[in-house]
Amino acid sequence: MTTTSAEITLEELSRDPFPVCARLRREHPVSYVPAAGRYFVTRYRDVRTVDDDPDTFSANETGSLMKRAMGHSMLRMDDPEHAVQRRSYGNVLKPKAVKQIWSHRFAENFERFFAEFTAKGPGACLVRDFAAPYAAENLRAVLGFRNADHTDLLRWSQTMIDGTGNYADDARIWALARRSYEEVDAALDELITEFRRTGDESLISHLVNAGSPEVRIEDTRANLKMTIGGGINEPRDALSTTVWALLERPGQLAAVREQGLWREAFEESVRWAAPIGMYPRQTTREVELGGTRLPSGAKLGVLALSANRDEEVFERPDEYDVFRPKTPHLAFGGGAHFCAGAWLARTQVAEIALPRLFERLPGLRLDPDRPARAAGWVFRGMTALPVRW
Ligand code: HEM
Repeated sequence: MTTTSAEITLEELSRDPFPVCARLRREHPVSYVPAAGRYFVTRYRDVRTVDDDPDTFSANETGSLMKRAMGHSMLRMDDPEHAVQRRSYGNVLKPKAVKQIWSHRFAENFERFFAEFTAKGPGACLVRDFAAPYAAENLRAVLGFRNADHTDLLRWSQTMIDGTGNYADDARIWALARRSYEEVDAALDELITEFRRTGDESLISHLVNAGSPEVRIEDTRANLKMTIGGGINEPRDALSTTVWALLERPGQLAAVREQGLWREAFEESVRWAAPIGMYPRQTTREVELGGTRLPSGAKLGVLALSANRDEEVFERPDEYDVFRPKTPHLAFGGGAHFCAGAWLARTQVAEIALPRLFERLPGLRLDPDRPARAAGWVFRGMTALPVRW
């Protein structure tokens, strides 16, 4: 049977997707949501089924706005083509490189942006004035954009992401996305020549000098644009959400500080509010999922933010609890597309930024005069986090 959830609005999802998802999990775990033009997959076990069966649930969606905004990257390919692209990234984002190279760069970046943030004085916004530039500069270093600064990365990322979500086909949004697309290509052209002369440890240098002959330059351009789009907002959101959750819960914050549970605080935060709330898939054949018959070619919205609050898997799922028993969450996706930047994110947020922020600002607290705000469902995060210390 197919059910349709015509009453759900995008506005409601963006404001607070969790009650809607809880109802869908209970009543229609896989149902068609006309406002989003997709079948929502809301339960943990069904999300796992989708992630583990790419032959039936393809990442290569037709009419994908992401392909238009960023080019056809590995994120919208299936294996074996996807695996070729993913392998081209080599070891640059893997734990050893993160530990030996990137963690030191992140620590330097922390010092720089922490100084700028505290110079703004109490009342500064932790998202805009710290988490966003810190995450952007970290990604700039890893990718190797020597010829750009963190504000370029922030602009490229946001305008191309806006293109990916431009369902209203707003010409202004496409124009801004296109401009960033061209700026990234121009910056890459310069770097290709430069890195051939003098390479470094960065991803672009690796792709230029050790790239696979199977990977065309257009593929690399698209993969890098997707990585710019995927490598800033998520660590920014994970960091801000964790700070907010801990400041709202002084008892848990005290325990985290005392016992150094920063990694637990981070993992619980991305479980509780998955920064990539939804990712798309498309069926390649007729199939039954969660009691619903899906036609071939059906567009799915795989709701990691709902699966992560599935009461069949997590007790009291709506509560933020750093002490909950360890159960794998789905915030980094699963299967072949499991996030390539998970270790970069964990290190910059849980190992570096969180402990240092709370150690340097022992009086860090929410601004009583201006509320913190969260929004979004495709991407979910804090839109404002004014703090004092
Ligand atoms: C807390 C932070 C992050 C979260 C929650 C996150 C989440 C995700 C998710 C859910 C996917 C899979 C999407 C899908 O299957 O359609 C993904 C893929 C990916 N992520 Fe992340 N991400 C984070 C940080 C990063 C960072 C810092 C980078 C920077 C390099 C990055 C690079 C990528 C790449 C390249 C892929 C594509 C992998 C593939 O297609 O094989 N991510 N991420």
